[in-house]
Amino acid sequence: MTQNLADTSRPAAAPIAANASATRGWWRDAVIYQVYPRSFADSNGDGMGDLPGIRSRLPYLRDLGVDAVWLSPFYASPQADAGYDVADYRAVDPMFGTLLDADALIRDAHQLGLRIIVDLVPNHSSDQHEWFQRALREGPASPLRDRYHFRPGKGEAGELPPNDWESIFGGPAWTRTENPDSTPGDWYLHLFAPEQPDFNWENAAVADEFRSILRFWLDMGVDGFRIDVAHGMVKAPGLPDIGSGDQLQLLGNDVMPFFDQDGVHEIYRAWRKILDEYPGERIGVAEAWTPTVQRTANYVRADELHQAFNFQYLGAYWDATALREVIDVSLDSMRPVDAPTTWVLSNHDVTRHATRFGNLPGGTQIRTPGNREQGLRRARAATLLMLALPGSAYLYQGEELGLPDVTDLPDEVRQDPSFFRKAGQDGYRDGCRVPIPWSGTEAPYGFGPTPGGPSWLPQPAEWAQLSVEAQTGDPNSTLELYRSALAVRRAQPALGAGAEVTWLDSPEGTLTFRRDSAEGSFVCTVNTTAEPVTVIAPGTVLLSSAGSTEVTGAKAVLEADSTTWWEV
Ligand code: NOJ
Repeated sequence: MTQNLADTSRPAAAPIAANASATRGWWRDAVIYQVYPRSFADSNGDGMGDLPGIRSRLPYLRDLGVDAVWLSPFYASPQADAGYDVADYRAVDPMFGTLLDADALIRDAHQLGLRIIVDLVPNHSSDQHEWFQRALREGPASPLRDRYHFRPGKGEAGELPPNDWESIFGGPAWTRTENPDSTPGDWYLHLFAPEQPDFNWENAAVADEFRSILRFWLDMGVDGFRIDVAHGMVKAPGLPDIGSGDQLQLLGNDVMPFFDQDGVHEIYRAWRKILDEYPGERIGVAEAWTPTVQRTANYVRADELHQAFNFQYLGAYWDATALREVIDVSLDSMRPVDAPTTWVLSNHDVTRHATRFGNLPGGTQIRTPGNREQGLRRARAATLLMLALPGSAYLYQGEELGLPDVTDLPDEVRQDPSFFRKAGQDGYRDGCRVPIPWSGTEAPYGFGPTPGGPSWLPQPAEWAQLSVEAQTGDPNSTLELYRSALAVRRAQPALGAGAEVTWLDSPEGTLTFRRDSAEGSFVCTVNTTAEPVTVIAPGTVLLSSAGSTEVTGAKAVLEADSTTWWEV
């Protein structure tokens, strides 16, 4: 039996200087941890996570071994879509803190050697944004209306929406306004909730404003932006009808008149110039749901953004053939543009992978707990596979604790706007947004300062055993597996951005690949089947998602649903 051997102690990361120059390509193999501010750490006991809370937990992230932190939106917002409805792009919502808190958070992170990436929401604002409110107040003649998509309705009295587009959250993508004199007025476009009107990116003021917002946060010292709905800002001329009865089925599978239009790339070329004006390699990462990885590659051409989430990988099930196919296609697609692949398994919009893989294949919105043990086993293995691939990887808060989705939240606590619109694509996103457990035996398990205190979504009682405190020091825990994996990834010269993947022969249902560097070689074996599989041991075990990998003589037993890392 070879136990996990990884030494989890790591040298302290060097502070990140504002003019850092020795950072060439840091993002090419960075491990970036997504913090969902509502649910990470609540410093003032109001049940809602906040910036001082995040700041107090930065040493945890440093010790976990990540390179950077992506913060979901913390801007002034009525929270119609958990902050993805921004009313003021230069202000912190009081529920999360102040601009001074943001400044202190960025400085502390840099001191600890962690970079900070903030969310940017350029496709739409909140309906409470000053521009939109004035456009409504000033009526149809207001020039401010051109900053959004206002249109007269169809039908005799304009009673029908201007086209047949549907909101991703369900229902028509248009809402009718009332004129200042209370007569029925024009309609406005919102691809998401009615509280999220889409900007008109043909209007120069919109483009100017976002260039200025970029500079505002770059001047604050952020290291990059995760760009929300990065494929959505440009709409096909004339806003043509789609004509299909089931538009949600087309999303992500086809080019839509409102998604993945070629015009968006002009925006990123302009933004790249701004990012490059700043020292230290500031980056942009696209949240672009495109039909193919090849189209995703367009977002990371040399003069555009740096990274784009690989959602085809996120959508792949725990199956050797499917995984190999998506890995090959991803690496092949990124090679011509010389961009890293940006792997991701979980985020705040999809069912956590520990729950997805415990259910039968069924997409990224799963509503049943499935087989928890199997799900966790596979999730641990899937993470080790992801971290062994060339490129960058994103982790979503709580996956390092092996958290499942909370599938039994009562309806009355849910906040996902699409839940209330019923016809929506993904109304169950609250299940992956439950505040994470840090310590103690009573909810909110250290998320807030007081045992018995509130949390905006209730945590399951079993989460006491999944807290950071409960898992720390337990060699079989998922947290220690993540800590070890990140330490090994840093130490192994063949891991990270560098070496290509060379596939080796492997029994059915398993995968074996090798990565070679001048300083040494690395092999990753994956068993996606429900049975142990005996193979020739390719080297010395570095780490195993199953806790250990049995090696006898030349033979090794790959446990069911497991990944092993080997040094050759
Ligand atoms: C993608 C974000 O990740 C999601 O949470 C949000 O609802 C939509 N964009 C709309 O902003």
